[in-house]
Amino acid sequence: MQNRYRWGFLAALLVSSLALADTVVDGASITDEQQGANWLSFGRTYSEQRFSPLTAINVDNVKQLGLDWLLELPGERSLLSTPLVVDGMMYFTASYSVIYAVDLRSRQIAWTYDPKVLDAAGERARIFWDSNRGVAYWKGKVFVATGDGRLLAVDAKTGKQVWSAQTTDPTKPLYINGAPRAFRDKILIGNGGTEVGATRGYVTAYDAVTGEQAWRFYLVPGNPADGFEDETQAMAAKTWTGEWWKHGGGGNSWHGWTYDPEFNRIYIGTGNGSPWNRKIRSPDGGDNLFLCAIVALDADTGKYAWHYQTTPGETWDYNSNMDIVLADLSIDGKPVKALMHAPKNGFFYVIDRSTGKLISAEKIGKATWATHVDLKTGRPVEVPGARYEDGEELIYPGPFGVHNWHAMSFSPATGLAYLPILELPFVFTDKDEKPATWQSPSFELDPGVRFSPGDEVELKIDAAWLLAWDPVKQKEAWKVKLPGVWNPGTMTTAGSLVFEGRADGQLVAYRAQDGESLWTFDTKVGISAPPVTYEVDGKQYISLLVGWGGGGASAAGNVTAQHGWAYGVHPRRLLTFALDGTTALPPTPAPHLTQPVVQEDFKIDPQLADGGNTIYGRKCLICHGVGGVAGGYAPDLRESQVPLYLEALRDVVVNGSRHERGMPQFKELTDKDLTALQHYLRYQARAGAKAASK
Ligand code: HEC
Repeated sequence: MQNRYRWGFLAALLVSSLALADTVVDGASITDEQQGANWLSFGRTYSEQRFSPLTAINVDNVKQLGLDWLLELPGERSLLSTPLVVDGMMYFTASYSVIYAVDLRSRQIAWTYDPKVLDAAGERARIFWDSNRGVAYWKGKVFVATGDGRLLAVDAKTGKQVWSAQTTDPTKPLYINGAPRAFRDKILIGNGGTEVGATRGYVTAYDAVTGEQAWRFYLVPGNPADGFEDETQAMAAKTWTGEWWKHGGGGNSWHGWTYDPEFNRIYIGTGNGSPWNRKIRSPDGGDNLFLCAIVALDADTGKYAWHYQTTPGETWDYNSNMDIVLADLSIDGKPVKALMHAPKNGFFYVIDRSTGKLISAEKIGKATWATHVDLKTGRPVEVPGARYEDGEELIYPGPFGVHNWHAMSFSPATGLAYLPILELPFVFTDKDEKPATWQSPSFELDPGVRFSPGDEVELKIDAAWLLAWDPVKQKEAWKVKLPGVWNPGTMTTAGSLVFEGRADGQLVAYRAQDGESLWTFDTKVGISAPPVTYEVDGKQYISLLVGWGGGGASAAGNVTAQHGWAYGVHPRRLLTFALDGTTALPPTPAPHLTQPVVQEDFKIDPQLADGGNTIYGRKCLICHGVGGVAGGYAPDLRESQVPLYLEALRDVVVNGSRHERGMPQFKELTDKDLTALQHYLRYQARAGAKAASK
């Protein structure tokens, strides 16, 4: 007994001295599923499971979890980032890719690094949000990508820049909001675009030490007249028709990158078409490789290995940029090196990642565009009318998808995947489009198809759930109702818990087996980021960034405005929880629902308002929200005083007086345009006030 005690003591000493040792963050440490003290990569380890082996916080004691400490992050806005933890230091990104390094012992900011994104952005400030999903860490350096298309290496100790690489052409409407991935002394990054101009998607790997380009892979083929880069591009070109390259083609990869150490491959989740509407992009049909697919590439060379396309010939913005999660599954009694993926289109895919062959696919939510996936051909079976070929069509899901980028986790202990899902149809129509003469837009929104939330959206505004899905049975294990969209990602632990923040500001712990809610904490701020867990000096903590933001908060209008996380009202914080934590949350303002300004004496000219609607839809909607209803990313212009006065509006919009706050400059707008915007906003303000008084 005594001996055993002594050995235990020695082992504890050994463990604590190991914990103090400098972890070399490399392929071996990022692969190691067993170590739980650190969170070294976006999805914790290369499997992207977001499953922690830590058990100190578990189903039996989670009720004692409390706020232990917090860090105020004044001036920040969207907080989407998955923090990384390396030996008691935390690294996360806030708005505009600013990196924070936080010492988890002193609980102070050690350094921040500001890549000055808006200074570099120029006209591109129109097309990206402040959102950033996080950093990568590799051998003493932290890597971040920026809205203006740079990839930066920063010394993890000092916060000083080591190198910078411009990964996009600054004249093109491309941006980055994803977290880079590190493997084999390379750093991988993609980019976003497609809705606001002609883009051709690609991913690039850079040398982690020098920042030099190692390889680049294009996700759609270019103009055949220029010659294809290789035989893979020539193969992909056979699936396109017409002059697709004039519109870029798209396929941009803004999220969904998973390195697989077992096959030394990187899986790339690819985006939608540019433009969305296939009739314009590829008029005689075709699958349009590699849109809306998973493409497996050799990690050293970027050479093509295999692909699986989830949405052939996409025409709804059903991109496949969502998480790609790796696991060893047992299917029909056989071990399978599996890959799991739940893209926007509503299906959950299990793929044999040794070959890229589809094993199974079932619907996880309402998807009316296809009946099922034919396992023989691996293709979805589409429903007549789904391509809005007969005019207006109400289709589930809309462009927000059944599942979006919000993290899916997977527990090898329960065998279940945990992900937030939603049910949000949109009406699609292209009856006013002229495919033959359609031109790609330049830094403004036009996907070649009109899409709007149908009347049904008003009724379904809270149709959101946390889903536990059994990937082997392809069946729901349990489902919990969530507040209306836009709910963030999940994390699961060997303590049999699933943690998820919610759109309404609650952080909840569920029992992983059956979804029973065991613990709730009201953070009083909208949550858009997933939680992480780790140890400091042998004690388990859970941390979460609170701060509403990202795409849903920007463009989704009513759907996300319902929570009242209005622009500039609520604080931004890093919250850290521990067993028996007793820190009280500082006072926090209540949710604020927009009070539209109604000017009774303002005579609305319907024709002007209509013109204003068009300008708003193309230039303002992506940040100020559908129908002038802001979801919290930017001020609600129906409530703002600024549009009431032409001078003030001109100053902000045309003269760019708020550029350094993220409000882009629109030099081209005339006083007539501004007047049209005024009429449109007054119209929407009146409609909003009327709806609120009902
Ligand atoms: C890329 C995102 C983005 C786009 C696109 C955008 N805005 Fe903004 N806008 C913002 C942000 C962020 C702010 C808040 C800036 C601040 O904090 O001062 C803002 C502020 C404003 C304000 C000041 C509101 C107030 O009460 O302070 C007005 C007016 C405005 N925008 C009008 C427009 C119009 C009109 C368009 C389209 C022509 C537009 N914006 C397009 C992000 C955007």
